[in-house]
Amino acid sequence: MKYPTKSSGTASGSKPIKLFLTLSTLLISTLLVFSVFTTSANAEESMSEDAADLTATKNTQIQVAQMGKNPCSSKSMPIRKKQVTNYKKLLKYGKKLWNDEKFGKAKGTSCNTCHPNGALLNSKPYPKYIKMAGEILTVDQMINFCMINPMKTKALKWNSKEMTAIAAYIAKHTMTKSQGKMKHDMMNPCMKMKNPCNKMMNPCSGM
Ligand code: HEC
Repeated sequence: MKYPTKSSGTASGSKPIKLFLTLSTLLISTLLVFSVFTTSANAEESMSEDAADLTATKNTQIQVAQMGKNPCSSKSMPIRKKQVTNYKKLLKYGKKLWNDEKFGKAKGTSCNTCHPNGALLNSKPYPKYIKMAGEILTVDQMINFCMINPMKTKALKWNSKEMTAIAAYIAKHTMTKSQGKMKHDMMNPCMKMKNPCNKMMNPCSGM
Protein backbone atom coordinates (compact mmCIF):
# COMPACT_ATOMS: atom_id res chain seq x y z
CA MET A 1 0.00 0.00 0.00
CA LYS A 2 1.26 3.30 -0.81
CA TYR A 3 0.45 5.96 1.63
CA PRO A 4 1.41 9.34 0.84
CA THR A 5 4.06 10.30 3.31
CA LYS A 6 3.50 13.32 5.40
CA SER A 7 6.25 15.08 3.75
CA SER A 8 5.20 14.27 0.22
CA GLY A 9 1.65 15.26 1.14
CA THR A 10 2.84 18.50 2.47
CA ALA A 11 4.93 18.95 -0.57
CA SER A 12 2.14 18.34 -3.02
CA GLY A 13 -0.27 20.45 -0.91
CA SER A 14 2.06 23.43 -0.53
CA LYS A 15 2.97 23.66 -4.22
CA PRO A 16 0.07 25.93 -5.26
CA ILE A 17 0.57 27.98 -2.11
CA LYS A 18 4.25 28.41 -2.90
CA LEU A 19 3.39 29.34 -6.44
CA PHE A 20 0.83 31.83 -5.19
CA LEU A 21 3.32 33.27 -2.74
CA THR A 22 6.02 33.56 -5.38
CA LEU A 23 3.60 35.17 -7.82
CA SER A 24 2.26 37.65 -5.29
CA THR A 25 5.78 38.54 -4.18
CA LEU A 26 6.68 39.12 -7.78
CA LEU A 27 3.56 41.24 -8.28
CA ILE A 28 4.14 43.29 -5.15
CA SER A 29 7.78 43.85 -5.94
CA THR A 30 6.89 44.85 -9.49
CA LEU A 31 4.33 47.28 -8.13
CA LEU A 32 6.85 48.61 -5.65
CA VAL A 33 9.53 49.11 -8.26
CA PHE A 34 7.01 50.75 -10.56
CA SER A 35 5.73 53.10 -7.86
CA VAL A 36 9.27 54.06 -6.84
CA PHE A 37 10.10 54.71 -10.47
CA THR A 38 6.99 56.83 -10.99
CA THR A 39 7.63 58.85 -7.83
CA SER A 40 11.20 59.51 -8.80
CA ALA A 41 10.10 60.47 -12.32
CA ASN A 42 7.61 62.92 -10.84
CA ALA A 43 10.25 64.28 -8.56
CA GLU A 44 12.57 64.74 -11.51
CA GLU A 45 9.83 66.48 -13.42
CA SER A 46 9.03 68.90 -10.62
CA MET A 47 12.72 69.45 -10.09
CA SER A 48 13.20 70.36 -13.71
CA GLU A 49 10.16 72.67 -13.47
CA ASP A 50 11.72 74.35 -10.49
CA ALA A 51 14.95 74.66 -12.39
CA ALA A 52 13.10 76.23 -15.34
CA ASP A 53 11.38 78.67 -12.99
CA LEU A 54 14.70 79.60 -11.53
CA THR A 55 16.24 80.14 -14.95
CA ALA A 56 13.29 82.29 -16.00
CA THR A 57 13.56 84.38 -12.86
CA LYS A 58 17.29 84.78 -13.40
CA ASN A 59 16.73 85.85 -17.02
CA THR A 60 14.11 88.40 -15.97
CA GLN A 61 16.45 89.73 -13.33
CA ILE A 62 19.21 90.07 -15.89
CA GLN A 63 16.85 91.82 -18.31
CA VAL A 64 15.65 94.24 -15.62
CA ALA A 65 19.24 94.90 -14.61
CA GLN A 66 20.13 95.63 -18.23
CA MET A 67 17.18 97.96 -18.71
CA GLY A 68 17.72 99.88 -15.52
CA LYS A 69 15.47 99.25 -12.57
CA ASN A 70 12.53 101.31 -13.77
CA PRO A 71 11.75 100.58 -17.43
CA CYS A 72 10.06 104.00 -17.62
CA SER A 73 13.02 105.86 -16.19
CA SER A 74 14.98 108.39 -18.22
CA LYS A 75 17.28 105.56 -19.19
CA SER A 76 14.67 104.23 -21.63
CA MET A 77 15.29 104.72 -25.33
CA PRO A 78 13.98 108.11 -26.55
CA ILE A 79 12.22 108.25 -29.93
CA ARG A 80 14.35 111.21 -31.05
CA LYS A 81 17.72 112.71 -30.17
CA LYS A 82 16.40 116.01 -28.86
CA GLN A 83 13.45 115.46 -26.60
CA VAL A 84 10.48 117.82 -26.83
CA THR A 85 9.38 119.05 -23.42
CA ASN A 86 8.16 122.66 -23.72
CA TYR A 87 4.51 122.67 -24.82
CA LYS A 88 4.27 126.45 -25.34
CA LYS A 89 7.32 126.45 -27.61
CA LEU A 90 5.97 123.42 -29.45
CA LEU A 91 2.65 125.18 -30.14
CA LYS A 92 4.50 128.25 -31.39
CA TYR A 93 6.53 126.06 -33.74
CA GLY A 94 3.34 124.33 -34.87
CA LYS A 95 1.75 127.70 -35.69
CA LYS A 96 4.85 128.74 -37.65
CA LEU A 97 4.75 125.55 -39.72
CA TRP A 98 0.98 125.77 -40.17
CA ASN A 99 1.33 129.20 -41.78
CA ASP A 100 4.56 128.49 -43.68
CA GLU A 101 4.03 128.48 -47.43
CA LYS A 102 7.38 126.73 -47.80
CA PHE A 103 6.42 123.84 -45.53
CA GLY A 104 5.14 122.04 -48.60
CA LYS A 105 5.93 122.35 -52.29
CA ALA A 106 2.58 123.70 -53.50
CA LYS A 107 3.17 127.32 -54.46
CA GLY A 108 1.66 129.88 -52.13
CA THR A 109 -0.01 127.20 -50.06
CA SER A 110 0.21 126.49 -46.36
CA CYS A 111 -1.95 124.36 -44.12
CA ASN A 112 -3.62 127.61 -43.17
CA THR A 113 -4.71 128.25 -46.76
CA CYS A 114 -7.35 125.55 -46.42
CA HIS A 115 -7.56 125.43 -42.64
CA PRO A 116 -7.60 129.09 -41.54
CA ASN A 117 -7.88 129.14 -37.76
CA GLY A 118 -8.52 125.42 -37.74
CA ALA A 119 -11.25 125.29 -40.38
CA LEU A 120 -12.17 121.71 -41.32
CA LEU A 121 -10.60 120.32 -38.16
CA ASN A 122 -13.42 118.72 -36.23
CA SER A 123 -13.44 117.15 -32.83
CA LYS A 124 -14.54 113.64 -33.77
CA PRO A 125 -11.78 111.49 -32.25
CA TYR A 126 -9.15 109.68 -34.31
CA PRO A 127 -8.81 107.28 -35.92
CA LYS A 128 -11.77 108.26 -38.10
CA TYR A 129 -13.04 108.01 -41.64
CA ILE A 130 -11.83 110.96 -43.73
CA LYS A 131 -13.92 111.53 -46.80
CA MET A 132 -11.12 113.07 -48.82
CA ALA A 133 -8.78 110.15 -48.09
CA GLY A 134 -11.49 107.53 -48.47
CA GLU A 135 -10.29 105.62 -45.42
CA ILE A 136 -9.81 105.59 -41.69
CA LEU A 137 -6.73 107.47 -40.48
CA THR A 138 -4.99 108.59 -37.31
CA VAL A 139 -4.20 112.28 -36.93
CA ASP A 140 -0.56 111.66 -37.92
CA GLN A 141 -1.67 109.80 -41.01
CA MET A 142 -4.09 112.60 -41.90
CA ILE A 143 -1.34 115.19 -41.49
CA ASN A 144 0.77 113.16 -43.90
CA PHE A 145 -2.14 112.76 -46.28
CA CYS A 146 -2.37 116.56 -46.52
CA MET A 147 1.44 116.80 -46.79
CA ILE A 148 1.57 114.38 -49.72
CA ASN A 149 -1.57 115.61 -51.52
CA PRO A 150 -2.49 119.30 -51.22
CA MET A 151 0.97 120.29 -49.95
CA LYS A 152 2.69 118.20 -52.64
CA THR A 153 5.65 117.23 -50.49
CA LYS A 154 7.10 114.33 -48.51
CA ALA A 155 5.44 112.79 -45.49
CA LEU A 156 6.67 113.91 -42.08
CA LYS A 157 8.59 111.34 -40.05
CA TRP A 158 6.33 109.92 -37.36
CA ASN A 159 8.83 110.73 -34.60
CA SER A 160 9.82 114.18 -35.86
CA LYS A 161 9.38 117.36 -33.86
CA GLU A 162 7.43 118.74 -36.85
CA MET A 163 4.84 115.96 -36.57
CA THR A 164 4.40 116.62 -32.86
CA ALA A 165 4.18 120.40 -33.42
CA ILE A 166 1.52 120.10 -36.13
CA ALA A 167 -0.44 117.60 -34.03
CA ALA A 168 -0.29 120.03 -31.08
CA TYR A 169 -1.55 122.86 -33.29
CA ILE A 170 -4.38 120.67 -34.57
CA ALA A 171 -5.37 119.66 -31.03
CA LYS A 172 -5.45 123.32 -29.99
CA HIS A 173 -7.53 124.40 -32.99
CA THR A 174 -9.86 121.46 -33.33
CA MET A 175 -13.44 122.53 -32.99
CA THR A 176 -16.64 120.94 -31.81
CA LYS A 177 -19.00 119.88 -34.57
CA SER A 178 -21.14 123.04 -34.47
CA GLN A 179 -18.11 125.33 -34.36
CA GLY A 180 -16.54 123.34 -37.14
CA LYS A 181 -19.64 123.61 -39.28
CA MET A 182 -19.71 127.37 -38.80
CA LYS A 183 -16.06 127.76 -39.77
CA HIS A 184 -16.49 125.27 -42.55
CA ASP A 185 -19.39 127.23 -44.04
CA MET A 186 -17.73 130.57 -43.55
CA MET A 187 -14.22 129.78 -44.55
CA ASN A 188 -14.07 126.72 -46.72
CA PRO A 189 -11.44 127.95 -49.16
CA CYS A 190 -12.46 125.37 -51.70
CA MET A 191 -15.66 127.29 -52.32
CA LYS A 192 -13.77 130.23 -53.78
CA MET A 193 -12.49 130.34 -57.32
CA LYS A 194 -9.06 131.77 -56.53
CA ASN A 195 -8.43 128.94 -54.13
CA PRO A 196 -5.48 126.58 -54.67
CA CYS A 197 -7.81 123.64 -54.09
CA ASN A 198 -9.30 124.14 -57.52
CA LYS A 199 -5.99 123.67 -59.31
CA MET A 200 -4.64 120.87 -57.18
CA MET A 201 -5.03 117.16 -57.12
CA ASN A 202 -8.46 118.17 -56.02
CA PRO A 203 -8.55 117.29 -52.37
CA CYS A 204 -11.92 118.98 -52.19
CA SER A 205 -13.60 116.83 -54.79
CA GLY A 206 -15.01 114.56 -52.16
CA MET A 207 -16.64 117.39 -50.26
C1 HEC B 1 -5.70 122.47 -50.55
C2 HEC B 1 -6.36 122.48 -49.30
C3 HEC B 1 -5.69 121.84 -48.13
C4 HEC B 1 -4.43 122.05 -47.65
C5 HEC B 1 -3.36 122.95 -48.21
C6 HEC B 1 -4.32 121.27 -46.44
N1 HEC B 1 -5.48 120.60 -46.21
FE1 HEC B 1 -5.89 119.42 -44.61
N2 HEC B 1 -7.74 119.09 -45.34
C7 HEC B 1 -8.26 119.62 -46.50
C8 HEC B 1 -9.62 119.20 -46.66
C9 HEC B 1 -10.53 119.57 -47.79
C10 HEC B 1 -9.93 118.38 -45.53
C11 HEC B 1 -11.25 117.71 -45.20
C12 HEC B 1 -11.17 116.28 -45.56
C13 HEC B 1 -12.43 115.52 -45.28
O1 HEC B 1 -13.02 115.70 -44.21
O2 HEC B 1 -12.81 114.74 -46.14
C14 HEC B 1 -8.72 118.34 -44.74
C15 HEC B 1 -8.61 117.65 -43.58
C16 HEC B 1 -7.51 117.68 -42.74
C17 HEC B 1 -7.44 117.02 -41.49
C18 HEC B 1 -8.55 116.19 -40.85
C19 HEC B 1 -9.56 117.12 -40.21
C20 HEC B 1 -10.67 116.39 -39.48
O3 HEC B 1 -10.83 116.62 -38.29
O4 HEC B 1 -11.38 115.62 -40.13
C21 HEC B 1 -6.20 117.28 -40.97
C22 HEC B 1 -5.65 116.82 -39.67
C23 HEC B 1 -5.53 118.10 -41.94
N3 HEC B 1 -6.34 118.32 -42.99
C24 HEC B 1 -4.24 118.55 -41.78
C25 HEC B 1 -3.60 119.36 -42.70
C26 HEC B 1 -2.26 119.82 -42.53
C27 HEC B 1 -1.37 119.51 -41.36
C28 HEC B 1 -1.95 120.57 -43.62
C29 HEC B 1 -0.67 121.23 -43.91
C30 HEC B 1 0.51 120.41 -43.85
C31 HEC B 1 -3.12 120.57 -44.45
N4 HEC B 1 -4.10 119.84 -43.86
C32 HEC B 1 -3.19 121.22 -45.65
C33 HEC B 1 -7.61 120.44 -47.36
C34 HEC B 1 -6.33 120.91 -47.21
